[in-house]
Parts: sequence; structure tokens; C-alpha cells
Amino acid sequence: MSKGFALGQCHAVITGASSGLGAEFARQLAPLADSLVLVARRADALEAVKRELSASCAKIFCCVADLATDEGRKEVVAFLEENGVLPNLLINNAGLGDYGSFASSSTEKTRTQLELNITALTMLTHALLPKLGRPAGILNVSSLASTLPMPDLAVYAASKSYVTSFSEALAVELAPQNITVSCVCPGPTPTNFGKTAKREDGTDTNREGQSLLRIPPSQVVARALTALQQGDACVFPGLGVSIASRLFRLMPRGLMRWLQRRRQGQA
Ligand SMILES: NC(=O)c1ccc[n+]([C@@H]2O[C@H](COP(=O)([O-])OP(=O)(O)OC[C@H]3O[C@@H](n4cnc5c(N)ncnc54)[C@H](OP(=O)(O)O)[C@@H]3O)[C@@H](O)[C@H]2O)c1
Repeated sequence: MSKGFALGQCHAVITGASSGLGAEFARQLAPLADSLVLVARRADALEAVKRELSASCAKIFCCVADLATDEGRKEVVAFLEENGVLPNLLINNAGLGDYGSFASSSTEKTRTQLELNITALTMLTHALLPKLGRPAGILNVSSLASTLPMPDLAVYAASKSYVTSFSEALAVELAPQNITVSCVCPGPTPTNFGKTAKREDGTDTNREGQSLLRIPPSQVVARALTALQQGDACVFPGLGVSIASRLFRLMPRGLMRWLQRRRQGQA
């Protein structure tokens, strides 16, 4: 087991830092870090986060890149080299969902989800591993959705299963190299996620009951950073999410599918 990663004076790269959990990671790290590299596509939103944190001691860089593309991922690596940033913390947070049936999903949005949730997280980690200072930390943002198959959010839930599995494997593989890997699996959290996941035609499933699990981004991020500091490989922030994750992981798969058919009005 890893000893954990100390956040003081860290040099962090945060993907998806222009809103939601990513911006909150920047807020909570700014008083502790020496430098933060904020990555996302929207330059104006990144600059707004940078302005908000201008009173902190950390040097803040904005790196505009589309992580759903190979070029965008290469741009991040080049940006770090050009600006002489030697990171020792990578927070793979950028991610995207898509509410609705797989059959009616847009090819482009499905491909972007896979590129962003899986390929970007994997390839950015691979590209930065040899460049990370030691000790180092990698914090991957997965989801409670990683613990169960989710009809009408099928690709997203499957992509987050990948993130959790990949992170837990790396936590073991990289511990001897003094790299702590943690994975945070939030439940429903009020950010722009729902707005982006919703389809233009308004199709969606019944998501009632989620409010029982909802906690604010500040608590999700604080719990995630504590997990990284303590060397916990996987954390489910909030009591409700923590109980739900245990239930979902222990539940027989046949029962799980029956409950989901009922939820979809099929049983
Ligand atoms: N909110 C929830 O309920 C919830 C629950 C569990 C897990 N999560 C996970 O939490 C993470 C953060 O999401 P959030 O809830 O904070 O949602 P959010 O507010 O929509 O933030 C998503 C971030 O990802 C960035 N992003 C999207 N596409 C990108 C691309 N192609 N290249 C680079 N950056 C891109 C967005 O910035 P730009 O648009 O500027 O590019 C934004 O900064 C995601 O991995 C999500 O799956 C969220």
C-alpha cells in the first residue's frame, strides 16, 4: 500500500478545470500548491478560474486543449515542456456523460465520451508518467456509476468501470515507484455534468432518488484529496454514496438487472 501523497508545494495538472469538480480541485489546491496547470477547451472559463485564484501563492497556467483528440493531448505535454513545468500531481478529472438509450445516441458524442473518459485519461497518464517528479500522485475521477451497469447511461457507466479498474491496478503497480494512485467515485454532484449529458431532444430516464446521494463539489473534492494524502486507492464520498457502492458491488447481477428492468418499466 502507498504511504500517500503530500499536497504541500505540489505542481499539479488538473484536467477539466474550467468548471465543476475540476475548478473545485483548483480552488482547494491553490493555497497549498506551487503551481497549477488548468486544462480544458474554454479559454475564457479557465481564465475566470485563474482570476478567482489570483490571490493564492501558486503560479497558475491555463492550457487550452481538446483532450478528446490526440493533438490536444500532445498539446498538454508540449505546454508543460514549453513552460518548464515539472508536475508531480496529475488529476484526470475531465469527463462527459450522455443521458439516453445507446441505440439513439449520436455517434460523435459516444466517440467523444470514450476518447475523453478512457483514452485521454490513459494516454495522458502514460505520457506524463516518465516526467512526473517523485514522490508523485495521480488522482482519477471515476463515478459511483462504475459499480453498476446503467441502462440509458451505458457507455458512461462502462467507461467509469474502466477508470476504477485501471486506477486500482496502477495503485498497486506504481506504489514501488513512489507514486500514489487514488480514484474518487462521486455520486450525483451539482456541476455542469447533467446539462452536458442531457440530449437536445430532452430524452432522459427517471433519475428520482438521486437527491438522497447528492453532496456539494467542495465535499467531493476534499474527500478525494484526503484519500490521495492517505494513500487510499478508491473512495466514495458521502455516506449515502458509500453505502450505495457497497450494495451495488455485492448485489447478485441477476437481481441488479431485474431492478433495472423495473426502473425502466419492463418488469
Ligand atoms: N457531477 C456529477 O454528478 C459526477 C458524478 C460522478 C462523476 N463525475 C465526474 O466528474 C468529472 C468532472 O465532471 P463535472 O461533474 O465537474 O462536470 P462539468 O462541470 O461538466 O466539468 C467537465 C469538465 O471537463 C471539461 N471537458 C469536457 N470536454 C473536454 C474536452 N474534450 N477536452 C478537455 N476538457 C474537456 C470541461 O471543460 P470545457 O468544456 O471547457 O472543455 C469541464 O471543465 C467527470 O469525469 C465526471 O464524469 C461527475
